[in-house]
Amino acid sequence: MQIRIFFLAPLLAAACSAAGLTGNWAAGNPGSDGVTRKTYFDLKEEGSRITGHIRVTQFYYSIKESTGGPEGFTITGSMMDGHTERTVKYEGRLDGDTLRIGTRRRAEAPLSEMTARRAPAGEGAYPTRLPLPALHRVPDNGLARTPPMGWNSWNKFAGRVDDASVRGMADAMVTSGMKDAGYVYINIDDTWEGERDAQGNITSNRKFPDMKALSDYVHAKGLKLGIYSSPGPNTCAGYEGTHGHEEQDARTWAAWGIDYLKYDWCAARNLYTDEEMQAVYQKMGDALHAAGRPIVYSLCQYGRADVWAWGAEVGGNLWRTTGDIRDAWDSMTRIGFAQNEHAPFAKPGHWNDPDMLEIGNGGMNESEYQTHMSLWSILAAPLLAGNDLRDMPAAIGAILMNREAIAVDQDREGKQGRRVWQSGEREIWVRELAGGYRAVGVFNRAAEGAQIPLKWADLGIKTPSEARDLWAHKDVAVQAGGQAVTVPPHGVALWRVK
Ligand code: GLA
Repeated sequence: MQIRIFFLAPLLAAACSAAGLTGNWAAGNPGSDGVTRKTYFDLKEEGSRITGHIRVTQFYYSIKESTGGPEGFTITGSMMDGHTERTVKYEGRLDGDTLRIGTRRRAEAPLSEMTARRAPAGEGAYPTRLPLPALHRVPDNGLARTPPMGWNSWNKFAGRVDDASVRGMADAMVTSGMKDAGYVYINIDDTWEGERDAQGNITSNRKFPDMKALSDYVHAKGLKLGIYSSPGPNTCAGYEGTHGHEEQDARTWAAWGIDYLKYDWCAARNLYTDEEMQAVYQKMGDALHAAGRPIVYSLCQYGRADVWAWGAEVGGNLWRTTGDIRDAWDSMTRIGFAQNEHAPFAKPGHWNDPDMLEIGNGGMNESEYQTHMSLWSILAAPLLAGNDLRDMPAAIGAILMNREAIAVDQDREGKQGRRVWQSGEREIWVRELAGGYRAVGVFNRAAEGAQIPLKWADLGIKTPSEARDLWAHKDVAVQAGGQAVTVPPHGVALWRVK
C-alpha cells in the first residue's frame, strides 16, 4: 500500500499541476467563533478562457469574463440579484499548488489576497432549488398588536455579539429603565450560527455555548429572546442558513425558547426570484406555526417584491421596507422620509419596518436622534434599539425612553402616519391616534434652524383644543388657524393635539 502511494504521489502532483487552474479551490480559516466560512473558486481553464463559479458568503457568481492564465489572471463573476446584476472581480495567480487570489475595494486600492487550496470536487457546490409550496394564508399568530420594541445586536456589534454581551444587554434593559418603558425583545442578529450536527440540527457556535440557558436567563428578567436566520443556504455574513431545514430549525428555536425570528433573504437570492419570495417566506411562516411556540416573524428582504402587499399573508408581523440603515443623518432621513406610500399596509399585528434604530451609536447628534425617534414613532415602526445599553449616556436614554413619543409609536389603533405638507426641506407629518388625538411631527431637514408655519387646515383639522410638546413635555398654547414653530437644524417638534 505504502509503495503504491509512493509511486502515485508524483503522478498526482503532475496531474494537478497539469490541471493548472482547473479544479475546485477553497480559501478560509476558522474564525474565533470556531466557524470556517470558505470562499470557493470552481475553475475550468478552457484554452485562453477561465470559466466556472465563485461562491463567497451569501453570493454565488458565474464567471463571465477572464484575462490571463495561471501566472496571472483576472476573473469577473456576475449574478442576478432580483432584477439587478451584481459583479465581483478577483485577481489571482497559481503559486506551486496554491492559488493566491484577492479583490480590491477600489481600483487603486491594494489587493487583499488570500490563499486557496485544492478542495474535493463538489465541495461548496451551490445547493439546488427546492420545490415551492402553493400560496395560501398562514394563520395570524396574534402577536405584535403594537410595533415590537426591543434591542438588536447588529447595528452596534455585528459579528462581535456573544453570550456575555446578550446577557449584559438583558441586564441593562432592566436597570436602564428600558424594560419599564416598553422594550421587551433582546434580538441576536447574524453570526450566532454553528454547523449542523449529524441529524441536520442547527447548532450555535462557540460564542453561544448554550442557547437554552441564555433564553432562560433572558426570560427570568421578564424579557424575550430573538434570533436570526436566512431562507437561503447562507446568511448575509456567510453563516449556515435554514434552506431545506425550515421545520427542523423552527422546532429547534422553539425548544430553545426563542420568541422572535428575523428571517433575512441573503443567499436565497441565488436560488429564487423575487416573484418566488412570498412562497419562500410562507414556508417559514408555516414552520413557525407548526412549531407551536408564539414567535414574532420578522421578514427582512430589503423592501423588495412589494412585501407590504403580502407580508401579512405569510404570517409576517413586520417586514423591512428598505435596505440597511447606517448611523448617519443622510441614511436615516433617506429611509425615514420615504415611507409615506407604505402607510396603508400597517395595522395591528403587521408593520412596515424601516430598519432598526441607530440612536446612541455616535454618528448623529441629539437633534438628529430626536428626529429619528419621532419619525419612527409617527411611522408606527418597530422600535429596536441598536446601541450599547450597558453604557448609555443619560441624553440617549432620554430619547429612547421618551414615553410620550413611545405612546405615539404604540398607539393601539396602529395607523401609520403620513406626510401632509412639504416645502423644500421642511415637512409636516401627521398620525391619527386613538381617542381623537393626532401626533404632529414638524421636521426641519435643513442644516439651519427654521420657523415652520403650522396651519391646522393643512392637517385637515380645525384649531385643536389642546396641544402638547412631546420633547419639552409641556402643553403648548394653541393659536387659532395655526402658528409658527421654531425647529432646530435637523430637528423636530413632536406634538400631540386634540
Ligand atoms: C442584512 C440585514 C441586516 C443584518 C445583516 C446581518 O444586511 O439587512 O439588518 O441582519 O444582514 O448579516
